[in-house]
Amino acid sequence: MTAVAPILSARELSVWFPNGNGGLQALDRVSFDVAAQEFLAVVGPSGSGKTTLLRLLAGLLRPTHGEVQLEGETVRQPRRRTGFVFQQANLMPWRTVMANVELPLELEGASTNSMRARAEEMLTLVGLQGFADALPRNLSGGMAQRVALARALAHDPDLLLLDEPFGSLDALTRERMATELMRIWEARQVTVVLVTHSIPEAVMLADRVLVLSARPGRVVLDLPIHLPRPRELSVAHTADFGDLARQVREAIR
Ligand SMILES: Nc1ncnc2c1ncn2[C@@H]1O[C@H](COP(=O)(O)OP(=O)(O)O)[C@@H](O)[C@H]1O
Ligand SMILES: [Mg+2]
Repeated sequence: MTAVAPILSARELSVWFPNGNGGLQALDRVSFDVAAQEFLAVVGPSGSGKTTLLRLLAGLLRPTHGEVQLEGETVRQPRRRTGFVFQQANLMPWRTVMANVELPLELEGASTNSMRARAEEMLTLVGLQGFADALPRNLSGGMAQRVALARALAHDPDLLLLDEPFGSLDALTRERMATELMRIWEARQVTVVLVTHSIPEAVMLADRVLVLSARPGRVVLDLPIHLPRPRELSVAHTADFGDLARQVREAIR
């Protein structure tokens, strides 16, 4: 199943939230393009508008000014083939792992057999075969995030938006999940926008790192990451990696 990948374009995105005091500006004329099947990481201080930006890309929020275009069309509402993974897995506690992954397909009225087959495929992809009948309360944080990822992938998204999906995990699990995500991205050829507060994670995973300033978020750096692929964790010990991470760190300051 090859996805027809979108070409995503953020054009001069500005967002003001009403606050009874002239409004709070979250984003200031943010512009960038994402090529089909590119992996973009977005980093920036807390409150720099990263989540707001992802909500714009998802069509969950309309910008005050500017627009988001996907394959040349203005994004005005959520679309089926955009997958979203939030910082918390947000699983339905009473549904099994399998039933959680099936949920978006069920809502569309897919047949039981096709749902089951698709959910099994996604659970295998995220390394959770054998956990189909488990309940969320019996999963570790890393496993729950894998289920959330499997659920987002069930629709065969051409655009995957990830909002600090590994933020609540311990360092080792986080590293394992990042490696897993890289493998899935290589296998599925989906376009990814990942928000992370980890500079090494951004440099390790992405084709490009976009750095937002403190509020209101502006693009202060748009850095291509030309490290060879496939990447191993050991690339983090190279001088090139160190230099790229330093550029990102300095832009955030
Ligand atoms: N729905 C909202 N209403 C009012 N203010 C908001 C809303 N969502 C976000 N904000 C404010 O916008 C700014 C950016 O928030 P957010 O996008 O969550 O930043 P980040 O994800 O980078 O931490 C923050 O100051 C936040 O308080
Ligand atoms: Mg956020």
